Amino acid sequence: MLKGTFPTDKFKALTTPFYYYNIELLKETLNTVKTEAGKYGYHVHYAVKANANPRILSTIAEYGLGADCVSGGEIQAALDAGFPAGKIVYAGVGKADWEINLGLDNNIFCFNVESAAELEVLNSLAAAKDKVASIALRINPEVDAHTHAKITTGMKENKFGINLSQLNSVLDTLKGMKNVKLIGIHSHIGSQITDMSSFRNLVIRFNEILDELEAQGITLENINFGGGLGIDYYHPNHLSIPAFDNYFAAINKLLKVRPRQQVHFEPGRSVVAQCGSLISRVLYVKEGETKKFCILDAGFTELIRPAMYDAYHRIENISSDEAVELYDVVGPICESSDVFGKEVELNKAHRGDLIALRSAGAYGEVMASQYNCRKLPKAYYSDTL
Ligand SMILES: Cc1ncc(COP(=O)(O)O)c(C=O)c1O
Repeated sequence: MLKGTFPTDKFKALTTPFYYYNIELLKETLNTVKTEAGKYGYHVHYAVKANANPRILSTIAEYGLGADCVSGGEIQAALDAGFPAGKIVYAGVGKADWEINLGLDNNIFCFNVESAAELEVLNSLAAAKDKVASIALRINPEVDAHTHAKITTGMKENKFGINLSQLNSVLDTLKGMKNVKLIGIHSHIGSQITDMSSFRNLVIRFNEILDELEAQGITLENINFGGGLGIDYYHPNHLSIPAFDNYFAAINKLLKVRPRQQVHFEPGRSVVAQCGSLISRVLYVKEGETKKFCILDAGFTELIRPAMYDAYHRIENISSDEAVELYDVVGPICESSDVFGKEVELNKAHRGDLIALRSAGAYGEVMASQYNCRKLPKAYYSDTL
């Protein structure tokens, strides 16, 4: 069984569970993103929600990416990590006044506005500061992302963005506003998208919208396609860097870019997922009547994706090379949903073995909770361990 490469000896002295980040892989991924986006002059704003660990953020900031934030806390984390305010975009259906003010005070690049109601508030908060906020309208493009229902965002029934049928009335409202300036349009249709046709459909929809706007005399300087590029959770050892080349090429092939128009992206998962693993220890191997359970000291408090989205993570016993057996791999949390995988092929497990849950760099540590009065997990990095 091919496994990831880990400094297992160094892990032995550490208290589990913890997150381990392969910084070399993160840097390789960032180089790839920069090279592939650079071919077309595209701007990349890393989606902080995927992983807001300060070390990860500052590494990404060093590579010159911007930041995509969905809360005031994320704006602050991005600024603290060294992302320039001029490269920060801010989306979210429920921006509180203090969060908008934080963005205004720091002169962030763009507010991705999600409703007419938000526009009114932003305009008045900006007026109170005698400022003009740059905005993009987040459109709900009615494009199916063909992904898990809980991470689909671009359909009518989702709470995100302005419906296409309401776009003209929002544009009318904007005409009377002095403290917001429309600089672009934005969409984010969902996450873990592996079917490129969803992105192609988004580009086609954007081309139509931009044509219609142009017919009304509106040419926007910025187009933002959001994030969503999926990763291969099944093959983290072979396909550790997502195919950014195909992704940007697919967009570039179809997109009708107008002169001076800038194109933006907000990838999160695809940048950080493969560099992170959750490392845990086997507490017990429990022989049930029909099943064998491998009970870990990590639970959904450290990695909630399997419980929340039925997500698959590859699980490896990095302490054992013995013959493979089938286990239900579970955590210690007092909830039946605290299961990482059923019928998982693992090298024979023993109490104390180290178990790696792979591809956990995105929506892992950042979603950890203290349910059951547990401690938040620590993080270690390949270059400082
Ligand atoms: C507005 C916005 N942009 C970008 C992202 C990043 O998405 P992903 O991690 O799938 O690339 C998200 C995540 O759902 C988002 O809500």
